[in-house]
Amino acid sequence: MTHFLDLKDFTKPQLRAMLNAAASRKKARANQPKGTVDQDLPLKGKAIALVFERPSTRTRFSFEMAIRQLGGEVFTVSGAEMQLGRGETIADTARVVSRYVDGIMLRAKEQHTLQEFAAAATIPVINGLTNRTHPTQVLADVLTLEEHRGAIDGKRIAWVGDGNNVCASWIEAVGVLGGSLKIASPESLRPRSEFLNWAKQIKAEVEVMTSPELAVAKANCVVTDAWLSMHDDDMENRHNLLQPYQVNEALMNLAAKDALFMHCLPAHRNEEVTDQIMDGPHSVVFDEAENRLHAQKAILLNCFGKL
Ligand code: CP
Repeated sequence: MTHFLDLKDFTKPQLRAMLNAAASRKKARANQPKGTVDQDLPLKGKAIALVFERPSTRTRFSFEMAIRQLGGEVFTVSGAEMQLGRGETIADTARVVSRYVDGIMLRAKEQHTLQEFAAAATIPVINGLTNRTHPTQVLADVLTLEEHRGAIDGKRIAWVGDGNNVCASWIEAVGVLGGSLKIASPESLRPRSEFLNWAKQIKAEVEVMTSPELAVAKANCVVTDAWLSMHDDDMENRHNLLQPYQVNEALMNLAAKDALFMHCLPAHRNEEVTDQIMDGPHSVVFDEAENRLHAQKAILLNCFGKL
């Protein structure tokens, strides 16, 4: 059973194989109409369900199109339409769903839902975001970074703002693939200690600090995210804490001259990032969004033993 639950579950060669597959499939279908299938139809005969306990634009569209282009069948269900964890246990739901479809992508409100589902499922399960990590996003982010600036190994990445689920997957990406990561967050919004401890244990180049200026200095890539994630509710407090972490021209000027700006989107313009940076020459945010499609294909192929 090959699930895709977290980046740290994979070796460097495994993640590299996924990145290479994503890049070569992207290249192979350049300029092809979006509604056409990839020539080899590697998911022909496979049915995959997408289940969302939280809203989604990018993850839903990119997985649906990835599965269609790979020749598979796909349908999407919201968690509210299912019995997930309400009356029926998550494990029983996973056992039942495993009898109908060949694979499932689950966006779960809570990490334990994903874990319980994956433990009981007899089909591949993909983590489409939890409150803990967002690995499909960060695989697409690394693809984007490498597409524009070459191998992540040796690159200086700066994360600015909330040390959230996307930041956690960045820690895992750097831990497995190389590169260095400086995380600037207010003390109370630092990444969970389990991620920092893991990074320390494997001697990954991950540093946490409070100063956004220090983190961004000479960085090759500056990454941020919304101040309020889907599972957060303390809006006023977060806005006050994170205001000094806005990515604006003054901050971006401290990075390397050709630094990239990345954001997984949706962005709250003129909160965590200014219009000037979002729409300026450093920004690759829409390439990043497109690359979700290409990265999802590689993840699916890995899950089905087709890489
Ligand atoms: N970045 C991301 O996961 O976007 P969605 O929430 O729209 O899927």
